[in-house]
Amino acid sequence: MRFDQRTHFAGELRPSDVGKTVCLNGWCHRVRDLGGLLFVDLRDRSGICQLFFDPAKFEGLKSLRSECVLSITGEVVMRSPEAVNPKIPTGEIEIRVDNFAVLADCDVLPFPVSDEEQMENVSEELRIKHRYLDLRRPSMYRSLAVRAECVRLIREFLDQRGFIEVETPIFTRSTPEGARDYLVPYRLEPGKFYALPQSPQQYKQLLMVAGFEKYYQIAKCFRDEAQRADRQPEFTQLDLEMSFVVQEDILTLAEAMTRHVCNACIQKFELDLDPVGPFPRISYDEAMRKYGTDKPDLRFGLELFDVTEIARQCGFGVFKSAADSGGVVRGAIYPGGGSLSRKEVEKLEEFAKSFGAKGLAQLFIAQEPKGIAKFLTPHEIEQIRSLAKANEGDLLLFVADQAETADGVLSRLRVEIAERCGLRDKRKLQFCWVLDFPLVIWNEEENRWDATHHPFTSPKPEDIQSLDTDPGSVRADCYDIVCNGVEWASGSIRIHDPELQARVFTLLGVNEATQRSRFGHILDAFKFGAPPHGGIAPGIDRLAMFLLGKENIREVMAFPKVGGGYDPLMDAPNTIDQAQWDEMGLMLKKP
Ligand code: AMO
Repeated sequence: MRFDQRTHFAGELRPSDVGKTVCLNGWCHRVRDLGGLLFVDLRDRSGICQLFFDPAKFEGLKSLRSECVLSITGEVVMRSPEAVNPKIPTGEIEIRVDNFAVLADCDVLPFPVSDEEQMENVSEELRIKHRYLDLRRPSMYRSLAVRAECVRLIREFLDQRGFIEVETPIFTRSTPEGARDYLVPYRLEPGKFYALPQSPQQYKQLLMVAGFEKYYQIAKCFRDEAQRADRQPEFTQLDLEMSFVVQEDILTLAEAMTRHVCNACIQKFELDLDPVGPFPRISYDEAMRKYGTDKPDLRFGLELFDVTEIARQCGFGVFKSAADSGGVVRGAIYPGGGSLSRKEVEKLEEFAKSFGAKGLAQLFIAQEPKGIAKFLTPHEIEQIRSLAKANEGDLLLFVADQAETADGVLSRLRVEIAERCGLRDKRKLQFCWVLDFPLVIWNEEENRWDATHHPFTSPKPEDIQSLDTDPGSVRADCYDIVCNGVEWASGSIRIHDPELQARVFTLLGVNEATQRSRFGHILDAFKFGAPPHGGIAPGIDRLAMFLLGKENIREVMAFPKVGGGYDPLMDAPNTIDQAQWDEMGLMLKKP
């Protein structure tokens, strides 16, 4: 079908264009039939512009249906003052249409693309099944434009600093990032599989051995793990690595880059966010002590407090027995919580129980303290009040349990309290560094040490001496960037000495044979002059979430998966032909 090339984008027309004859191509966003005149909002990727048709002049106007593709020519005219629409940039003008052609018709729509309010009620699966329509919404286009700008700014920032962008393979073998692998059968040798990369971790280290010194990649990563609001089975990282660096070099670079990218995006898209300031730094131990998590939301205080020692001496059985059996008694403060109704306090208790608490003890700080006050002496209450930094009118909430459970519950409760008190400022992106992670953590179920980050992370040089005697006390040169309580980036200085790498593998229970079979390539590479190196990998999807204030990662991905990794648009994963099974030498195991 022939059509005229556009002379302008719809969203760019202004009063200064009045009198011009323009040609526009786009979609029929909305049609309004006002009897005498027909108004159409024409949409292209730049925005929306109002057209009006005089029905007396045209035939075939009935074919103008929502979302059909339209090409028009007409004159730009001023709207009458009462018809001005201040909500859109083109709201002062409109086009008096002289000619039009419908370039493609549109079927009955599965949902009202042009109505943002009604779209809120459309099921997400239906939206994703027809993503090509969902993405027509200006709000969706904007989200992906912000995301694209982040990536562009990152590339510009790193290119200016001498980084080289290198693509690494998607068909590879397992990388130990802690999730299950996605596997691809290898046709030429049935029974062998590629693994899709959970991250390009090993390749980027090999690029350092190769002498590239400053590498980055906008890398697709694949992890078969439980989905959450901020997790997808395939996602994108900015993966970066540098040689001849110490931890401080990476922190400086990553922080400068993050602030630059965020602040440039905030400005360009006029996002409703305050400029991003310097990142506070806190140690893993401090984060756990004050916030019960290594991903603290630092937009607010509400520090947790530990009363285990007081509990051990006190007459309250629940506290005492937790403290005496190797557990802890920790608490959270609810400022002004003394005025909550019984029902509201019960809801908090239910919330705590949903994360594994057996109960939620309450102490109301008042002239005459209430709740568990009856089990405590005035001196103990005063000690607790002072530890919690509580004032009259505040409510203190306690969990008595093993440290892991208590922290898990209280860290979430802290955020819940902040939400209820309006302390989670939506305008603020509060980034912070979390440093000095332990190198390994004890895995109770498997009865072995696990790498806190991954097995290539370097212990702090001053802690290496304790590697064999007290592994749990060894800290790593490892760092995370957290934003508003969500992990954004993770990285470390790597081990570059093959002997130390082998020692760490041994500590992690990877025996020599497995070291050779799984990591022989990297252990060998390190024998050929591996420079000191380190890097970091921030999540691109999560950055777009932060900037756009989205609660769900799917909102910033063009074609996300739902549920357990299903793509409703392509209907993938799907079955394969018998011929493909045969070709791959595979058979389905009967249950
Ligand atoms: P890590 O596994 O911590 O580190 O991942 C780094 C960052 O990637 C993002 N991310 C995800 N985003 C969306 N969906 C997921 N399923 C998902 N998993 C991770 C997060 C996270 O902070 N190789 C190391 C990095 C390094 O040491 O350099 C790694 O991959 O934003």
